Amino acid sequence: MASTKLQSGSSGYLPEMDDAERASRDEIMALQTKRLAWSLAHAYDNVAHYKTAFDKARVYPSDFRQLSDLAKFPFTVKTDLRDNYPFNMFAVPREQLVRVHASSGTTGRPIVVGYTRADIATWSAVMARSIRAAGGRTGMIIHNAYGYGLFTGGLGAHYGAEHLGCTVVPVSGGMTERQVQLINDFRPDIITVTPSYMLAILDEFKRQGLDPRKSSLKFGIFGAEPWTNAMRVEIETAFDMDATDIYGLSEVIGPGVAQECVETKDGLHIWEDHFYPEVIDPQTGAVLPDGEMGELVFTSLTKEAFPVIRYRTRDLTRLLPGTARPGMRRMEKVTGRSDDMIILRGVNLFPTQIEEVLLATDWCGGHFILELTREGRMDELTIQAEARPERWDGNGLIEQAERITAHIKNTIGISSRVRVVAPNTLERSLGKAKRVYDRRPKG
Ligand code: DLL
Repeated sequence: MASTKLQSGSSGYLPEMDDAERASRDEIMALQTKRLAWSLAHAYDNVAHYKTAFDKARVYPSDFRQLSDLAKFPFTVKTDLRDNYPFNMFAVPREQLVRVHASSGTTGRPIVVGYTRADIATWSAVMARSIRAAGGRTGMIIHNAYGYGLFTGGLGAHYGAEHLGCTVVPVSGGMTERQVQLINDFRPDIITVTPSYMLAILDEFKRQGLDPRKSSLKFGIFGAEPWTNAMRVEIETAFDMDATDIYGLSEVIGPGVAQECVETKDGLHIWEDHFYPEVIDPQTGAVLPDGEMGELVFTSLTKEAFPVIRYRTRDLTRLLPGTARPGMRRMEKVTGRSDDMIILRGVNLFPTQIEEVLLATDWCGGHFILELTREGRMDELTIQAEARPERWDGNGLIEQAERITAHIKNTIGISSRVRVVAPNTLERSLGKAKRVYDRRPKG
């Protein structure tokens, strides 16, 4: 992309930024128009599912002339990918794939995604850009505690970090004691991990009598699950570090679709030169104007092996104008997936809302679960919240629990039971935290 003009005229940009990060909005939109035309034709010509879906909707790649034309094309949903398990969504012969990943999928078949050599290069580049936007630089040591394997977190962060020229410590998730030992001995600058597992690492620092603020960690890149700004404050204060949010999903590429910039920490810049975002009304499917809350939808612009056209993520957010990277829009922190939304007697609730309330107290450090049960015909919500060791009274902090119940009723509008449990009693996740346990009878 042409950017000489921009480079000469723009002081204030970090010298490490690449051309797309310095590009103007107009330049990005021109690039997207060109790349979208390619991606639609590539999907239509090479994936039976897209050919059938476009034909059925009587819309063809040649109908695409400008960005707003994308709204004419059909959505792709998770079941489309599941129905084409394992390899039928690929747009290149299987021999050209150098890697596959798969979603864990709690029920049924997983979703399989694939990458050509060029796709891995794209992914490494956007992931390297993400690490740099989070504060990382060539030559730093990065402790990568995202899980390695079929999950995209571990290998995605790994390749990005190598691409940037960092020294990667490929720890993966788990063995928390060893995580702390390696952080102490190798003195990494950066950690990549889910925010919930970062809390488990924090507990382990304290258990070993180590001061986390004295650790070498300067930058944390946290994602793969929803987390709040209250959690950011908790982690930044505990470790004396900068914590930023990273977003991505296997279907779109993996981690590195969007990343918060450390200088602004104001939501995540979407790497719009590779991923085209839309926000839609989840009920009607209508495209919403920027600024309105709805379901995030992505179309890949450059992917070869696994193009996605208007893929419905089920993640809820809104699009905002770019700040630290003015040519690319931001997405607000994802409050939750539509799948995680609890509807309790008509009121919608996301676990992040409870996280925010609990972290506003001085006695809870952010470990909690939500349990749904049915008593008679009524659904009941029990919040189990773990006390900080230094605040535990051995008896359920009864008064504090009652205060939280009242606060949740007054602010969110739902009745709940809050049980404060002893330190280190709730199960720790090694990756994505499981927050909701639905114990209501099925059917
Ligand atoms: O979680 C990719 C990833 C790995 C992202 C490491 C960031 C860091 P999946 O397992 O396919 O991929 O899960 C994707 O996780 O649709 C969101 O619901 C959720 N998610 C991912 N990042 C965030 C985030 C990886 N920063 C699903 N905030 C997505 C909230 C997130 N939710």
